[in-house]
Amino acid sequence: MRITDPTDEAIRAAATIIRGGGLVAFPTETVYGLGADALNPIACARIFEAKNRPRFDPLIVHIAQIDQLDDLCTAVDAMARNLAERFWPGPLTLVLGKSDLVPEIVTAGLDTVAVRMPAHAVASRLLEGADTPIAAPSANPFGYISPTTAQHVDEQLGERVDMILDGGQCPVGVESSIVDLTAGRPVLLRAGGVSVEDIEAVVGSVEVSAASPERVLAPGQLRNHYSPRTRLVILASHHSCAPVNERAGLLAFRTPADAEHFSLVEVLSPAGDVREAAANLFSCLHRLDRAGLEIIYAEPVPESGLGRAIMDRLRRAARD
Ligand code: TXA
Ligand code: MG
Repeated sequence: MRITDPTDEAIRAAATIIRGGGLVAFPTETVYGLGADALNPIACARIFEAKNRPRFDPLIVHIAQIDQLDDLCTAVDAMARNLAERFWPGPLTLVLGKSDLVPEIVTAGLDTVAVRMPAHAVASRLLEGADTPIAAPSANPFGYISPTTAQHVDEQLGERVDMILDGGQCPVGVESSIVDLTAGRPVLLRAGGVSVEDIEAVVGSVEVSAASPERVLAPGQLRNHYSPRTRLVILASHHSCAPVNERAGLLAFRTPADAEHFSLVEVLSPAGDVREAAANLFSCLHRLDRAGLEIIYAEPVPESGLGRAIMDRLRRAARD
């Protein structure tokens, strides 16, 4: 059985797979990651193959202890330390200058590296057991909806993974926020599990990087990232449409009054809480995408706190 409960024995087996150059999918507080030994370039190449991921898209390196930053990065300044101390372990990724220890394939040839210390207990135990940093993108085929359960990983990558550690549903549900610290000022490359408001409370103001097709810094910035296969349209406001199409689904923020107009309704948060909505986002999208619908309508959510990350994912999922 590829999907395994995270017993001590399973963690030891998973750590042995990582040490041997294999691939282990594991839960983090954000989404499931597809992990390999970050210091082993051949193991990291397997990640790109398994995901059909373009080689220009660099990987995040996961660590167990803050002081590993000094091995992987050059010039860890006060701002980096403040952010790490405030938000780690947790859903924040820092981009810093890379040390020679980090293989080129991990950073796709960039001279910077993205690092984070995850908060999920299974991820921490695996990192401790493997005793090496673990490079891990989200465990989905490139461009598709990120996995928030072990079953999502199994459905999407199945045989390509040596082992899937099952930690249940990811509590945060959207990927980490990525902050680039290499420009002398903090730049947000991806909205995610730590809100911009919380980051700004530590570093003052944060520049929000605009996606640029010419220079994609974080391919999470690619327009069609996180896409379901079914067409997705964001409604202008709550219930601005009564669909004529019989096979229309609704991704609702709160419990809707007019559910009968849709063949499937998924509710992100019955009480309208953006944190709960983020935790449910990708599971709801997976279910809608599997339902054989012609179109998925998505309600907008308030764009504060984690609502910003949710709207970012929805805009990218909405194809032109
Ligand atoms: O929450 C997360 O961050 C999850 C879990 C597994 O940790 N990981 C994740 O990885 O979302 P991935 O590969 O799906 O997204 C990582 C993003 C990509 O858009 C990549 O381009 C960006 O991080 N990235 C990695 N290294 C970078 C660098 N040196 N400079 C700029 N962006 C970088
Ligand atoms: Mg991803």
